[in-house]
Amino acid sequence: MKTDLIHSLATLAPAREFSGDTLAYFFFQSDKKEAVTSTQTLTEFQNLTKSAAFTAAAKSSFFIRESYIEKTNLVAVGFGNKKTFTAETARQTGGSVYGKINSEKVKSFGLHIDSLLKSINKNQADEVLRAFLEGFYLASYTFEKYKSKKTTPTLTSVVLVSADRKNEAWLNQLSYDVLTTVDCIFTTRDFSNEPSNFGTPEFYGNEIAKFAKRYGLKCKVMGEAEAKKERMNLFLAVSAGSEREAKVVILEYTPKKAAKNSKHIAIVGKGVTFDSGGISIKPSMRMEDMKHDMTGAATMLGATLLAARMNSKNRMTTILLFTENMPNGNAVQPGNVITARNGKTVEIINTDAEGRLVLADGLDLAHDYHPDLIVNSATLTGAATVALGRICSALFSNDDKLADKMLATTEVTEEALWQLPLWDEYFDDLKSNTADMMNSANDGAGGTIRGAIFMKQFIKPDMPWAHIDLANRAYDQGYLSYNPRKGASGTYVRTFAHFVLNY
Ligand code: BES
Ligand code: MN
Ligand code: ZN
Repeated sequence: MKTDLIHSLATLAPAREFSGDTLAYFFFQSDKKEAVTSTQTLTEFQNLTKSAAFTAAAKSSFFIRESYIEKTNLVAVGFGNKKTFTAETARQTGGSVYGKINSEKVKSFGLHIDSLLKSINKNQADEVLRAFLEGFYLASYTFEKYKSKKTTPTLTSVVLVSADRKNEAWLNQLSYDVLTTVDCIFTTRDFSNEPSNFGTPEFYGNEIAKFAKRYGLKCKVMGEAEAKKERMNLFLAVSAGSEREAKVVILEYTPKKAAKNSKHIAIVGKGVTFDSGGISIKPSMRMEDMKHDMTGAATMLGATLLAARMNSKNRMTTILLFTENMPNGNAVQPGNVITARNGKTVEIINTDAEGRLVLADGLDLAHDYHPDLIVNSATLTGAATVALGRICSALFSNDDKLADKMLATTEVTEEALWQLPLWDEYFDDLKSNTADMMNSANDGAGGTIRGAIFMKQFIKPDMPWAHIDLANRAYDQGYLSYNPRKGASGTYVRTFAHFVLNY
């Protein structure tokens, strides 16, 4: 976590007063010559332009050490072809530029904003810069809490360089928004990366209470006794085999100024701090990754904090369900029947299909707050990776309008989701001889859909609901330059926050 770094940027200076060691200029492929105005750098970049090494291809950058009289290093940043360029191109470029300047040991980095404004208008530049800076700062993330030797990044300041003082307010607001976004995503990553011997339900409950206090949210942490009073027996069945007490965290955000069209959004997240599979124990290969099984909750926390810090006009009630899934002598056994909070009975066929159990009671509880809609996220099924690979996660909804809103959100945030069917026919596979339903069937057919159709049994008719199974994108998303090579990615924090802020 490098919050010290991310909180230290965004002062404004004209290029000629820039006193840092490295200055970056932006280029689109079509106009890389026109984009340069300063006479000192012109020759520099004209030479560069002739050089085959820098073609301004998207996500590329070219570093020139001690380039001109003031001995400033220059970086040419390539944005590629304007026609195929999107904000995500800028985000990934930002990620790769961070990698470059970090390896070049840059201390003080300037971004030549005016070079960007030469090629595109201010609205476009706003979108591009936000995304570029997001990618840049996201790429600076490390998780070194448990390393005895920590790396100290050489970069200590980032300056947005513009000769036009009128840009100051705009750039300050933009930097503030980016830093807030990155900070929230770092929180999600930190939570998800926490080893489960430290990252217990109690730990998350305590940490979240601190965040709530800091950002003015109401927070309630329920232990097992209270969960029992709430009849959350499915949730408690999952925690039965664990020595550590389960916690339900409820965060409430009320907008200071509610608008007429303000909505109340319930947000639910799966927080299984370690998923051993329980009695249906998992194979040991990569079981260590199951510390990430609380990423749904971590994602929803990050998104809730972000939307709250951005002063959402919509009200939020966020329910995060933290428990371990472990196989001790009290553990729930395959074949056991448990009565859910909503009164339905569930035969537990596979104790490793625990996420849906935890969420079933959490979703039912969410209805008590009378929200206008419910969204949830969870690392629910390994089958999500089988179905969709690692590029997009699965979206389910009982409401076409809500699904379309969610998909429209991802058009903006460029964190892809793909909608899968939620037809009631899929529930046939989960019919039980003994209870109202089974939590799984004994073959893997349509595993991701089955998880979703199970959860749908806990959504009341007429309650718009969307479920995102992000098991395939929670961690190891290093193919994107702004994500760590291994470990938590923080994917979909931006999407859920944007969804809340623009609903
Ligand atoms: N937490 C897992 C899903 C998971 C797997 C997340 C791999 C991330 C990476 C979930 O609780 C689980 O075990 N699901 C089972 C469901 C099955 C037993 C019906 C699965 O996917 O195999
Ligand atoms: Mn499991
Ligand atoms: Zn799980």
